[in-house]
Amino acid sequence: MCAEADSGGHTDAAVAYTLMPAMTGLRDRIVAERGYPDGIRVGAAGGLGAPESLAAAFVLGADFVLTGSVNQCTPQAGTSDAVKDLLAQADVQDTGYAPAGDMFEIGARVQVLRRGTLFAARANKLYQAYRRYDGLEAIDAKLRRTIEEGWFRRDLEQVWKETREYHLRAGRPQEVERAERDPRHRMALVFRWYFVHSTRTAMRGDPAERVNYQIHTGPAIGAFNRFAAGTALADWRNRHVDAVAEALMAGAAEVLRDRFSSLGR
Ligand SMILES: Cc1cc2nc3c(=O)[nH]c(=O)nc-3n(C[C@H](O)[C@H](O)[C@H](O)COP(=O)(O)O)c2cc1C
Repeated sequence: MCAEADSGGHTDAAVAYTLMPAMTGLRDRIVAERGYPDGIRVGAAGGLGAPESLAAAFVLGADFVLTGSVNQCTPQAGTSDAVKDLLAQADVQDTGYAPAGDMFEIGARVQVLRRGTLFAARANKLYQAYRRYDGLEAIDAKLRRTIEEGWFRRDLEQVWKETREYHLRAGRPQEVERAERDPRHRMALVFRWYFVHSTRTAMRGDPAERVNYQIHTGPAIGAFNRFAAGTALADWRNRHVDAVAEALMAGAAEVLRDRFSSLGR
């Protein structure tokens, strides 16, 4: 089992300090009740980008650690070089929250890069508009113009046409029927187009769309950038995933050794 505190991408912003004791306590109770002979290992994820953070996770009782955000800024990651360049410049305060495109209507959130892109600000405004208006027709003219000319660079009717065709092709005519009956649902489907578009343009590294890049990441990338500054790992092209993992684990071992020896003095 892995307990995920506030992370890049989909997150419910849990705090590791409180999550880990709750999860290890639950594990201990269940293992005792059920008499599992081999126990259950509980790992920690979320926010791990500096050796000190990994060390803290092990002190909190983690049996293993899992990284996410730091792996996206490596030669092995499937995203574009443009995204990796932006991630390599991020600091610990350069992330923010935006609505999740796949769970837009229920208000689920993702953590994304804020520095160098306007995706989070625009996506949050789209969510506010979705909450406020009954349908695309009700959106005030100024905001509609901003969305069409500034953000989407196409008009909303064209987006609906493309979205409609996509759902029909994907064998989901009921989605189209519902949207044609329910203007609010049509607005959600049109707005959700932006979440797919902003992910695709980031993955492709389309330079004209940089302000719209949707890049899932947490502040762990900023912590790693600080840790790597002045070393060979400062350049993301050297950040092979095994080298990143090795540097973090070796660093964590050092932190734990120094910390425990200074506490014992
Ligand atoms: C770009 C990206 C994509 C992710 N995709 C998934 C996913 O598809 N499924 C999943 O369970 N977790 C996904 N995660 C979460 C990671 O598995 C991991 O739990 C999390 O990133 C750890 O927190 P951190 O980002 O603070 O290191 C993703 C994370 C990132 C940054």
